[in-house]
Amino acid sequence: MNNNLTSKKIHSVEDARSLAKKRMPKMMFDFVDGASGDEKLCESNSKALDQIRLQPRVLRNIEKRKIKKNFLGSEYDQPFGFAPMGMCNLTWPGADKMLADECRANNIPMCVSMASSTSLEKMYDLSQGNCWLQLYNFQDEEFLMELLDRAHEKGYKVAILTVDVPIQFRRAKDNKNGFTVPFNLGPKQFFDFATHPLWSIGTLMYGIPKPMNYHTSKKVKKFVRSESRGSTDWNTLKRVREKWKGKLIIKGVMSPEDATKIKDEGVDAIQVSNHGGRQLDSATTSIEALPLIRNALGKDFPIIFDSGIRGGSDIVRALGLGADFTMVGRPLMYGIGADGAKGLRRIVDIIKEELSTTLGLVGLNDIKDVSSDIIAERFIREFKY
Ligand SMILES: Cc1cc2nc3c(=O)[nH]c(=O)nc-3n(C[C@H](O)[C@H](O)[C@H](O)COP(=O)(O)O)c2cc1C
Repeated sequence: MNNNLTSKKIHSVEDARSLAKKRMPKMMFDFVDGASGDEKLCESNSKALDQIRLQPRVLRNIEKRKIKKNFLGSEYDQPFGFAPMGMCNLTWPGADKMLADECRANNIPMCVSMASSTSLEKMYDLSQGNCWLQLYNFQDEEFLMELLDRAHEKGYKVAILTVDVPIQFRRAKDNKNGFTVPFNLGPKQFFDFATHPLWSIGTLMYGIPKPMNYHTSKKVKKFVRSESRGSTDWNTLKRVREKWKGKLIIKGVMSPEDATKIKDEGVDAIQVSNHGGRQLDSATTSIEALPLIRNALGKDFPIIFDSGIRGGSDIVRALGLGADFTMVGRPLMYGIGADGAKGLRRIVDIIKEELSTTLGLVGLNDIKDVSSDIIAERFIREFKY
């Protein structure tokens, strides 16, 4: 298929999702698209965002709209970054590089997952330092500490500790497809790859993706996706805070009580997230948690929001309900799955354009002026903000 033509077919995240579904092996598409348990929370995250209605305002000169945002001491061209996602090169060969290039071009941060298919050092070089490092704590805390040392040496200024995966929730589609890292190549997987030759040939040429931070580690060589992270507790957080002198974000917080306690541990920001519905399937939607956490933390404490964002209006909604910055996850992978770097560019452009238009239609010129005033009154009451 002609690449330019494919990108021209992308007018929304949903368009990219449909195209990616056809172009990617089923096992890989399901890994990206899937969620935990009954899989309803992923959809509910976006539906809950959609239910929040904004208040249009008229007769204001909105010719000079600005969507630049200062966050944690840096100015970014847009109020969103790329959420950490493990093993992105499974979506399409070279996806990590596409993400790094796009972040650099847009002056927005990309979060490099501990389980990324490119080493944190290489990602730093590719993005020219436009990146933050995300970590989990496995049984062996030494690995986490080693990665913090490596990140510091390389020049990373921001680390994210993800705390909402003490154990992995069941992912039915991955189990059905026999998804494992490294691959388990049986007849079903062989058929899946054979019927998606572009992906398969590209992957053979580019190299079978591996979690490269592990492969370049002095301490731990093997990534075991299902390994328990259950021993992570408040003492882990204290040790990480003591070790990491840069900015520290705690990701995966949904309870106001936890958020307050985490703030008291001296972290720099909290990321309200239910992991895009990939953990506790019966959890509340992320946007429901956001205003409650904003209320608990006070108006100035930095908050990032993710889970369910599918367009620029969703970002404006989240900023209106108390976020300072946002992260986008699956939509980026849909763009790449649909049409590589061009598909990713389309998704970012669509989000940017919608952000600016939404800002103008709620009567504002500067994204910094977004507050709960833009949310229609009934929804403010509902969300107790
Ligand atoms: C394929 C995939 C891999 C992910 N891997 C990680 C990861 O390694 N670390 C992490 O903190 N979150 C990970 N996440 C969660 C995202 O960072 C983010 O919280 C979520 O995708 C946001 O929801 P959205 O996809 O609806 O935008 C992953 C999500 C996806 C879709």
